[in-house]
Amino acid sequence: MRVGVLVSGTGTNLQALLDAQARGELAPATIAAVISNRPEVPALGRAAAAGVPAEVVDHRGLAREAFEDRLLARLAAHRADAVVLAGFMRVLTPHFVDRFPLRIVNTHPSLLPAFPGAHALEDALAHGVKLTGVTVHFVDASLDGGPIIAQAAVPVEDGDDAAALRARIQREEHRLLPRVVQRLAAGRLSCQGRHVIGIRAE
Ligand code: GRF
Repeated sequence: MRVGVLVSGTGTNLQALLDAQARGELAPATIAAVISNRPEVPALGRAAAAGVPAEVVDHRGLAREAFEDRLLARLAAHRADAVVLAGFMRVLTPHFVDRFPLRIVNTHPSLLPAFPGAHALEDALAHGVKLTGVTVHFVDASLDGGPIIAQAAVPVEDGDDAAALRARIQREEHRLLPRVVQRLAAGRLSCQGRHVIGIRAE
């Protein structure tokens, strides 16, 4: 399975995937390309340092479908048959999503369906929850609403700010995301309605 990784920023989740690949733990998945919608983000340097093709498809000035067409064309050029959203901060429409049924995975920093959207950490802190976590899920046309593949719980400690909570959550997602990508590539995940079978809860 050739995976295209879409990023928008720091790329620590991308790094976790690259490190897993270097250790031989991602096979039969291969990271075919990394595409960022923003130029000059650290994620691009991480890809280049690992010898993985890294490109920018800038969304600015493009209508949503035109942007998605460019992404699709670049993914096709790299013969990607699956997509990982690793901190990719654009919403994808059915125009894109329908091209990769049960082949797009996202990592989200909350225990979905709690706290969807772009401010999950801040929303969890504002709500005063004692447990939050990470959800890795299939992407459909809903916002953070596709079938859940794997979750890990993370405690909220007294006095946490967003940075402290983010660090704790990211340790979990860096562990979970590569495992999910490996299982998907190995054909070990199956989806019956909303229920994804094939990965053990932790
Ligand atoms: C991650 O916390 C992920 O859950 C969210 O965006 C963040 C990206 O971080 N979707 P990074 O770019 O992988 O460091």
